[in-house]
Amino acid sequence: MMERVSFTIDGKKVTGYKGQTVLQVARDNNIYIPALCFDDEVKPYAACRMCLVQVKKGKRVKLVTACDYPATEGIEVTTNSEIIEKCRKVVLQLLMARCPNLPKLKEIAEKLGVEEQPRFVKANDDCILCGLCVRVCEDVVGVYAIGFEGRGFTRRVCTPFDEESPSCIVCGACSYVCPVDVIPIEQKDGYRIMERWHKKSKLIPCPKCGNYYLTEDQLKFLKEKTGLPEEELTICPDCR
Ligand code: SF4
Ligand code: FES
Repeated sequence: MMERVSFTIDGKKVTGYKGQTVLQVARDNNIYIPALCFDDEVKPYAACRMCLVQVKKGKRVKLVTACDYPATEGIEVTTNSEIIEKCRKVVLQLLMARCPNLPKLKEIAEKLGVEEQPRFVKANDDCILCGLCVRVCEDVVGVYAIGFEGRGFTRRVCTPFDEESPSCIVCGACSYVCPVDVIPIEQKDGYRIMERWHKKSKLIPCPKCGNYYLTEDQLKFLKEKTGLPEEELTICPDCR
């Protein structure tokens, strides 16, 4: 049986399970902590720094990222204080300087009452480098179609050599987890197309209802991975 842990968030008693993070327990208890690079399906990476909170353990108080801080018996978590607000504001302003035209960032900024900082040099990127797409591709799907490249300002996520990735199966998992919606998927003329990764794959209709569900590359990957017959794999979840 999973061990339970109790602690407080902003003075409210909450209970979670050992192994959960402070962010997960906060979410389970409908307590808002801004977070851009966290998804339950992958290991935390603490890249965006948006989820900063203060944790008091014994006499010590420290600033930590809620997405990778373990839910611990007796800690006191504060999600809003002057110092947290200041740090979050700078983090968000830096993200907005890197990606000035992202509606998702603007939405969070509005919610938190943060305005752009004109002092920060503006770039014209659309990726906040949260790494969720890379981690989902590797850890959940199990293909290594995309990865980080470069350092500092030039760091980005791309396919190897910026060419069509031979291992991308056009499953769309990366698009699904991207917190700022910058990995579009298009389904056109019987193909699923992911422009960002220079890849398209033919869609295969479900033999029962005819709806498109898998791509040819997905089917090949799943056949190799599971050994299941094609007829079984191509049946969509609704018809199973
Ligand atoms: S493309 Fe989206 S999911 Fe991938 S690193 Fe950039 S912001 Fe994150
Ligand atoms: S959600 Fe915690 S650092 Fe990004």
